[in-house]
Amino acid sequence: MYSSPTSVYSAIIEIIKKAGLFPKPTISHTSGSKSKVQIGGKEVLNFTSNNYLGMSDNEKVKDAVVAALKKYGISSGSTRVLGGSHDIHEELEKTLAAFIGADDAIVFSTGYMANIGALPTIINPINIPGMSGRDPKRDEITVFSDKSNHGSIHDAIRLAKCEKVVYKHNDMVELEKALKNCKTERKLIITQGVFTTDGSILPLPRIIELKKRYSAMLWLDDADAIGVLGENGGGTPEYFDQNIKDVDFYMGTMTKAFGVFGGFVAGNHDLIDYIRVASKTSILSAPLPPILSAAVNESIKLVKQSSEDRKKIILLAKQFKHGIADLGFEVLGGNAPVMLVMLGDDNKSIEVEKELAIAGIMASVVRYPAVPWGESRVRFNFTSQHTEGDVNKVIEFFKTIKE
Ligand SMILES: Cc1ncc(COP(=O)(O)O)c(C=O)c1O
Repeated sequence: MYSSPTSVYSAIIEIIKKAGLFPKPTISHTSGSKSKVQIGGKEVLNFTSNNYLGMSDNEKVKDAVVAALKKYGISSGSTRVLGGSHDIHEELEKTLAAFIGADDAIVFSTGYMANIGALPTIINPINIPGMSGRDPKRDEITVFSDKSNHGSIHDAIRLAKCEKVVYKHNDMVELEKALKNCKTERKLIITQGVFTTDGSILPLPRIIELKKRYSAMLWLDDADAIGVLGENGGGTPEYFDQNIKDVDFYMGTMTKAFGVFGGFVAGNHDLIDYIRVASKTSILSAPLPPILSAAVNESIKLVKQSSEDRKKIILLAKQFKHGIADLGFEVLGGNAPVMLVMLGDDNKSIEVEKELAIAGIMASVVRYPAVPWGESRVRFNFTSQHTEGDVNKVIEFFKTIKE
C-alpha cells in the first residue's frame, strides 16, 4: 500500500537506484557534441554523439544560424497556422523534400513530435463535416510494427488505439504471415531504417515487395540513416536503390546527421497536406525556431557533399567490430554507424561504462526501456570526426578488461 498518491514514483526510483541502473548524467560535458569533449578539465573520446557528420559544429552551419538570428530573432512567435510560419520554414520543407526525392515535406519541432503527431492521424483519419460516403468499415486499419521500433512509434500507436501486430524484429516471414491473415481493408507497416538498439538495417526491398503484394502503406522512420547511408546520404531508400515513391511516409530527424534539431515527414503532396491539417503536434505546437531552420538548410547542402565522410564512418565501425569481436566479445551491428557490445547483463554494462569513462572514453549503455531488462548493451556511435587511432584506443580498452 502506498502512503501517498506520489509514493509510487519514489518506490520505482528507489529500486532503480539500488540496482545501480539510474542513468546518472556522469557525462555532462562542456564542449558540444564533438568526437573529443571536455569533462572536468579532461579530454574524453566521445562515442555517444549522433552528430555523425560533424554538422553541429560546422562553421558554415554556425554562420547560417548567426545570420538568421540577426534577421528573425529566436522564436517563431506562434504556431505555423496562427502566423508563426516563416519563409525559412517553407524553404526548409522544399529543401528536405528535394533531398529525399519526395514531392513535399512537413517539419516538426522534433522527430518524436513527428511520430506521435502524424502517425495517429494517418492511422485514424480525422472526421470532417461534409465528407460524404465515408464507410467506417473502409477506415478500419491494422498496424504492423517491428518489435524493435523506437519508443516514439510505440507511443504513437498507443495514442491511435488501433488493431496492431508487433512482428519479430526484421522478420519478414512473420510479417508476411500477419499481412496475409489480416482482415481489415487498410494496413500500415511501420518500421525503421537503422535500429540503434542492435545496429541492424531493415530489409527494405522485401518490405516494399510485401507492402505492394498486400496493398499496405509504409511508414519508414529513417532517423539514423538519413545523411549517413546511401551515396548522397538519401538514407535506406538510396542505400537499397529503391524508389522513394514506394515509401508512403518517409520520416526523419534533423538532430543526427544534420547536426541541428527537429523532425520531418516527406511524401506525396496530398499526404503531406493531410498531415498539415490533421496533426496536432504541428497545428497546436510551436514550430522550429527560424534559426534552426536556417541551420538545417545549410547543413543539407554540406551533407550532400559528404560522400567520403559517409564511407569513413562505416570503415571505422567495421574496424571496431573486427577488433572487438576478435577479442571474443559479442558485437551487434553491420553497415550502419552504430555498434553495440553485449556484456551479458545490466550491471556489467554499467560497470564497463564507468571503466570506459575512467579510461577517457565516453560510450552509452542502452538500457530498459529501449531494450528488455537484463539485456543492456554498450553502444558506440561513429562519426566522421573519429580517427582509426580513436577506435584503436577502444580496442585496447577491451583488451584490458578481457585479461
Ligand atoms: C528511430 C528514431 N525515431 C525518432 C527519434 C526521435 O527523434 P528526435 O530526437 O528528433 O525527437 C529517434 C531519436 O533518437 C530515433 O532514434
